[in-house]
Amino acid sequence: MTDQLVAAADASLDATWWRQACVYQIYPRSFADSNSDGLGDIAGVTSRIDYLAKLGVDAIWLSPFYPSALADGGYDVADYRNVHPQLGTLDDFDVMVEAAHGAGIKVIVDIVPNHTSDLHEWFVEALASEPGSAARNRYIFRDGTGPDGAEPPSDWVSHFGGSAWTRVPDGQWYLHLFARAQPDLNWDNREVRDDFLYTLRFWSDRGVDGFRVDVAHALAKDLSEPLRSSTSLDANLPLDGSDPLYDRDEVHEIFAEWRQVFNSYDPPRTAVAEAWAPTERRALYARPTELGQAFNFDLVKVDFDADEFRAVITTCLAEAELTGASSTWVLSNHDIVRHTTRFGLPKGTDLQDWLMTHGTSPKVDAEAGLRRARAASLLMLALPGSAYLYQGEELGLLEVADLPGEALQDPIWERTGNERKGRDGCRVPLPWSHTGESFGFGEGSAWLPQPEQFAASSVLAQDGKAGSTLELYREALRLRRQLQSAEELTWVGGESPEVVHFVRPGGWHCVTNFGSEPVALPEGVVRLSSAPLQGATIPAETTVWLTDWPSV
Ligand code: GLC
Ligand code: CA
Repeated sequence: MTDQLVAAADASLDATWWRQACVYQIYPRSFADSNSDGLGDIAGVTSRIDYLAKLGVDAIWLSPFYPSALADGGYDVADYRNVHPQLGTLDDFDVMVEAAHGAGIKVIVDIVPNHTSDLHEWFVEALASEPGSAARNRYIFRDGTGPDGAEPPSDWVSHFGGSAWTRVPDGQWYLHLFARAQPDLNWDNREVRDDFLYTLRFWSDRGVDGFRVDVAHALAKDLSEPLRSSTSLDANLPLDGSDPLYDRDEVHEIFAEWRQVFNSYDPPRTAVAEAWAPTERRALYARPTELGQAFNFDLVKVDFDADEFRAVITTCLAEAELTGASSTWVLSNHDIVRHTTRFGLPKGTDLQDWLMTHGTSPKVDAEAGLRRARAASLLMLALPGSAYLYQGEELGLLEVADLPGEALQDPIWERTGNERKGRDGCRVPLPWSHTGESFGFGEGSAWLPQPEQFAASSVLAQDGKAGSTLELYREALRLRRQLQSAEELTWVGGESPEVVHFVRPGGWHCVTNFGSEPVALPEGVVRLSSAPLQGATIPAETTVWLTDWPSV
């Protein structure tokens, strides 16, 4: 090939890097604390780039690190174009991006367009301005109903519990689909739209490779009077886009504009939608003319069960094909109970109820949970498309279910009158070492208490240890790079219904035994397994990778 052709091939490869990437989610406040103030920070991420490179991830996605009052762990953004002073500076951010890129790791940031923080200068100005003013029109202010307008404008409820409306001193109400400190923006306002286009350019100009788009399905709302009831929060949304709050057709005009910004860069910036839309409509967000990819959270909802995994994989691959996007896979993130714990609980356990028992009833079978989580992760990593990992899953961390009430920071705890604990249990700072006050997270104590069992799961305790979960992930990611080719999957049948077996182009087989009895090992060269093999069988609840050809 001529140099020119090689360059062109590299460039096109670069433009599609995201299609089968392994993206590692960093929850910055809980990743690594460089100055020992108890809070993870940007310099902490920089200090661990070597770790991430050795793990073998293609990209990191950082949850919000922007100035924020932390009313919702940073998803209440006070300034979209800056770094929270406690987490560092824009210079620290640039250093981090340079270090990541230097190690061949792309950087994705989180954009939160549905709402700002109540400390955002726009909201401060809105509160200080008259009803009907331009400043109020950047948000969703309405008069109340009932005598003296003392009742909220509609029956809409917040995701975190209670009414989605809060009254201000002059009698008007503003909408917040999440916490009170997260007022919803008015996306019918051109100024709001332009400001976000500017923010996308701001980070793209700083070298950011992509964006994760928070609550992407809620931006467009039908605010015509009288305000109509919303069908539901997440589930059972209508398939025709007729809900007044979620998944409306007009939302796609917004993302088509964003795509023009993404495509003005070389390589084009990527995006992934967090859109809790019905499966049938989720693909619309992933169109190449819009965000390009959408999270599928289907694996988050399944039990460790062959039929359920097979069904989810089939549906999601078909969905990706509709638009030419690649599929996404998620087992854990900062909003859900860690999958090691989920798979260690009896099938069908209500996780919120379970959390309210401090994780005591029913009891978690930690050993089974880890065994199943390792098998599920290895299966996920063999699928075509992008795999999104959540920090700590490579250590097999469990959910911390016994955090005391006074330690809890998730607004869900307060807004439900302490009836739901919320999401702190998966946000506990990472253990890097088995010693030290915060297990190497920083030198002092961490912002959320870590359990004693974190010592044994720490990076240092697992590093270089054959069979550890960390080494399993490292080897899986190394092999994944080698084995991954075209985005196809062919089912292989004929084994027990408890076995899920597929092959990728080039002869890479992934076989998971979901059952409780060993099954025969198919032919091929074993490359990796989530548990030690027993002779020519795959033990219960184990995934094996095999190839049709010998190792080189
Ligand atoms: C998304 C985030 C979640 C946050 C919410 C409101 O669902 O993942 O953490 O609380 O949006 O921004
Ligand atoms: Ca810090």
